[in-house]
Formats: sequence, structure tokens, C-alpha cells
Amino acid sequence: MIVIENVSKSFKTKKVLEQVSLTVRRGEVIGLLGENGAGKTTLLRMLSTVLAPTEGTITVAGFDTVRQQLEVRRRIGILFGGETGLYNRLTARENIYYFGQLYEIPRARLDENVSRLVHYFGLDAFLDKRVGEFSKGMRQKVAIARSIIHDPDIILLDEPTSGLDVTSAFGMRNLIGDMKTRGKTIVFSSHIMEEVKKLCDRVVMIHHGKVKFDGPLEPLFAEREMEDLEHIFMNMIGEDK
Ligand SMILES: Nc1ncnc2c1ncn2[C@@H]1O[C@H](COP(=O)(O)OP(=O)(O)O)[C@@H](O)[C@H]1O
Ligand SMILES: [Mg+2]
Repeated sequence: MIVIENVSKSFKTKKVLEQVSLTVRRGEVIGLLGENGAGKTTLLRMLSTVLAPTEGTITVAGFDTVRQQLEVRRRIGILFGGETGLYNRLTARENIYYFGQLYEIPRARLDENVSRLVHYFGLDAFLDKRVGEFSKGMRQKVAIARSIIHDPDIILLDEPTSGLDVTSAFGMRNLIGDMKTRGKTIVFSSHIMEEVKKLCDRVVMIHHGKVKFDGPLEPLFAEREMEDLEHIFMNMIGEDK
């Protein structure tokens, strides 16, 4: 579903990612773990076609992220943490529809998807209010609804719970769980170990631009005789004290 082959990325002379290779199968949920500056966002931006690799290739659903950007974009939903990119002066409904129209989704299907998502997120009562008046958690709900309005098979989430309050973060984790149940392929970055432990089939640990670990968590816990993913992580990157 996603194949990353020997990908390196530099910004001018700064090497951010080095020789990253990774395969994500259909229906898998992958957690990208790593410290700030490890290169997680850069990797997700390359998957989403926004950045091109300096070296190597990435294919998403069989399409090259550099040469076939449009094909890739049709098949992915992306949510980048921090800025939601919503239009404050538009209502939640207008924001979501605007995006849906960009994807050229037929009106009937768009109506259907919107009502399903709005119901799911409990946004019904807020649909015709301007998002500028929303709380951070509400904005995040609108942003995620908007990013999956075309019902993509592949979902990329960059620190989806960062900055959310407990309730909203819980809701976001439930959503990821539900999407997993619906067979979606999900790659999300996080530095919250518990979240990764709970949701992922596999974790990929990135440190200083390199993949330090790629695999399921259970054997990792068994092998190291450790319960605590945080310790395992520190141990893995060689900074365990
Ligand atoms: N557009 C850019 N120009 C220069 N350096 C960048 C750019 N984007 C990211 N970086 C650098 O790349 C490194 C990895 O960043 P990032 O992918 O955001 O890490 P993470 O998401 O894991 O915190 C950081 O050192 C960051 O400063
Ligand atoms: Mg980041």
C-alpha cells in the first residue's frame, strides 16, 4: 500500500532523513515514534506529496508521490497537527463542503459523507456556526472530518492528539480505532507512548533521521523484559541512563 525505498531528505545541507525504507500494508496501523526534530513530519509530508525526497522513491497505492501526485492525493486523507487550515469565517459545514468540492465528490455522496461524519463527531448542533468561535477540540473535529470527507483508504495523521484536552484526545484515539476497524491504512506520528501502544500494529522509531526500529511491539516488550515503552525507546536510541 505504501512503499518507501531508500528515502533521504535534506534541506540545503541539512540531512533530515537518511536511507529510510519502510513498507506499510493495507489495513495496517503504523505509529511513527521519535523525538522532536527526528524527521516524522518530514516523512509524512513526503508521503502526502507536499515534499519530494532528495533521494529514493515513495509509492502510495502504487502511485509515485512525485510523478503521480494527483493520484496519490485522491487516495489519502491528511491531518497535520497545529494548524488546521480551516477558514475561520466559514461555518463548519462550509469548510467541509468546500473541501469536498475540491475532490469533485458528487453532491449526493458528499451529503451522505458529511452527515455520517457530522453525526460521528457530534457536530450536528455546530454545523452552521463559524469555526472561528470553536474550541481547539471542536476545530480538530472539523479538520479531521474535512480531511477524510472523500473516504480515503489511507490516512496520515501528524500528532493528531497534540494540544487536545483529555476528552478530545480520547475521541481522536477512538476515531483512529474505528478507522482501523473499517480497514483503513493509517500512519500517525506521536510521542505519546501509551497512544502508540494502544492503537498500533507496528511502530517505527526514528532517531536522528534513521529508522532505529520497525516492528510489532509485543516481541519488543518480551525481548527486553520491559513493560514501559518509554524505557524501551530510550534504550533503543542509546540514551538509557
Ligand atoms: N522546510 C525546512 N527547512 C529546513 N529544515 C527543516 C524544514 N522542515 C524541517 N526541517 C528540519 O528537519 C528536522 C526534522 O523536522 P521534523 O520532520 O519536523 O521532525 P519531527 O516532526 O520528528 O519533530 C528538524 O531539524 C527541522 O528543523
Ligand atoms: Mg513533527
